[in-house]
Amino acid sequence: MSRSDGSSASSPWWHEGILYQVYVPSFQDGSGDGFGDLAGVVARLDYLAGLGIAAIWLSPIHESPLLDLGYDVADYRSVGRAFGDLDTFDELVAGAHARGLRVLMDLVPQHTSAEHPWFQDALRGRDGVHRDWYLWHDPAPQGGPPNNWASAFGGSAWTFHAPTGQYYYHAHLPEQPSLNWRNPQVRQAMFDVMRFWFDRGVDGFRLDAVWRLLKDEQLRDNPAGDEGESFEIGGAAAHTAVRQVQRYTADHPELPGLLAEMRAVADEYDDRVLLGELHLTLERVAALGGRRGLDVAMNFSLIDVPWRGKALGDLVRRYEAALPIGAWPNWVLSNHDRSRLATRVGVDRVRGALTLLLTLRGTPTLYYGDELGLPDAPVAAPRVRDCAALRTGDLTLGRDPERMPMPWTRDRHAGFTDPDVEPWLPVPSWATGLSVAAQEVDPRSTLRMVRSLVRYRHASDALRRGSVSVLSDDDELLVLRRESPRETLLVAISLTDRSRRLALPAGSWRTEWVTGRGPLGHVVTTAVVLPAFEAMILRRTRAA
Ligand code: NOJ
Repeated sequence: MSRSDGSSASSPWWHEGILYQVYVPSFQDGSGDGFGDLAGVVARLDYLAGLGIAAIWLSPIHESPLLDLGYDVADYRSVGRAFGDLDTFDELVAGAHARGLRVLMDLVPQHTSAEHPWFQDALRGRDGVHRDWYLWHDPAPQGGPPNNWASAFGGSAWTFHAPTGQYYYHAHLPEQPSLNWRNPQVRQAMFDVMRFWFDRGVDGFRLDAVWRLLKDEQLRDNPAGDEGESFEIGGAAAHTAVRQVQRYTADHPELPGLLAEMRAVADEYDDRVLLGELHLTLERVAALGGRRGLDVAMNFSLIDVPWRGKALGDLVRRYEAALPIGAWPNWVLSNHDRSRLATRVGVDRVRGALTLLLTLRGTPTLYYGDELGLPDAPVAAPRVRDCAALRTGDLTLGRDPERMPMPWTRDRHAGFTDPDVEPWLPVPSWATGLSVAAQEVDPRSTLRMVRSLVRYRHASDALRRGSVSVLSDDDELLVLRRESPRETLLVAISLTDRSRRLALPAGSWRTEWVTGRGPLGHVVTTAVVLPAFEAMILRRTRAA
């Protein structure tokens, strides 16, 4: 593979490269059924490569009843009919690699679909070969579920199976039974699944719900409340049934050992990466990323933080302080489970937020459509598809709005699917105005800004691997200093609707990059004016 991702021989590609999440159902429909698929992704590889990213991470594409849109896998070695076939997958990997792009898959090791043959076998009886591949327990002595563990989608995490008289555990839907990772056969089966896809050229995995893999063997009750964990499923944070500290259902002391076993499987191949979904405190996420196991312990704190300069600055300091020596940071700005960036921070602050993501120290993860500044697209009741809304009956908990089909063109349905086919989620009429086609021709568009910043990042070793410090303590401004032996940069981001004067550290500075494409190349010494909601990168041209 060529090194178009800007990585260098001395550090792994995923340190300096940018990761981009493709939520496959919503990216591009290639088959004409209104649902995104692999043929659609293949058709958009040039667009993806043109972003300057290092890798795409594909949401699950396996055979699945799609109750949780693919996070309910019925066959780990397949491509599901809704998404295409193995040949198209091979074509995707070859096409991506030819363009210098890596391909990461979502691996869902915590649970299978209830339709998976392993679970179907487990249901047959207590003596079934696969019975112990799942977590079965007798009812509590007084009857009812074995303990108080709650499902992420609300209600008890235990479902009673009358024919065999036991409960099985599911961290999510009852149709997503959790696997028993203490069973060595489960480990071997899942490790073989990893090898199956590595052998097909996959460059790594994003491990779904990996912080939940092992549970307390004594089945102790979880305490009520939360201990500063981030939240896996957006609106579910507000859901009372989920307000339970995951003390005995997550972050088990033996988890690092299990992650190291997974890493050993990845080590059988060259250059493969493991990203882990971890909804824990920032300190625990930082610690798990510092151990042998996960290369990227995904840091979702930018999704939860109040979008103000001081809170953001404190977050950067806190995370940097928590990272063990040698651990590499990463930042996730959005994903398919949480309200979109533009909706969370407000349309005016999107460009500053993207600037922050792409100039922080560490691996950035972009969510599809954030490069266009897409907001959430509300979905009316009859069109709701997400189980988080359908199962709780609370439509505000649904994740459909952040999964809007990608708008590509000004055509009907914005080019996501054929104009005469109904897309699986509605494409609002305003989406065409934010489409790739519309933004390509607008020099001031968010898309063009992202591309130019990515180019700047690739060319700057201070941004790719320099140190970071936060210079501001101000709600309206965030100022970072990025420094390598060769360069010193200041990144200044305005979070306010008024121009602000920014006093500069001693030395001479040149304005090099501005979100609104304001005047560049000015040499300034004492101060610079930062226009409302803009971001600016300055380079030190002379020390004090
Ligand atoms: C986390 C995934 O990101 C989410 O979409 C899914 O519902 C749960 N894990 C269960 O797999």
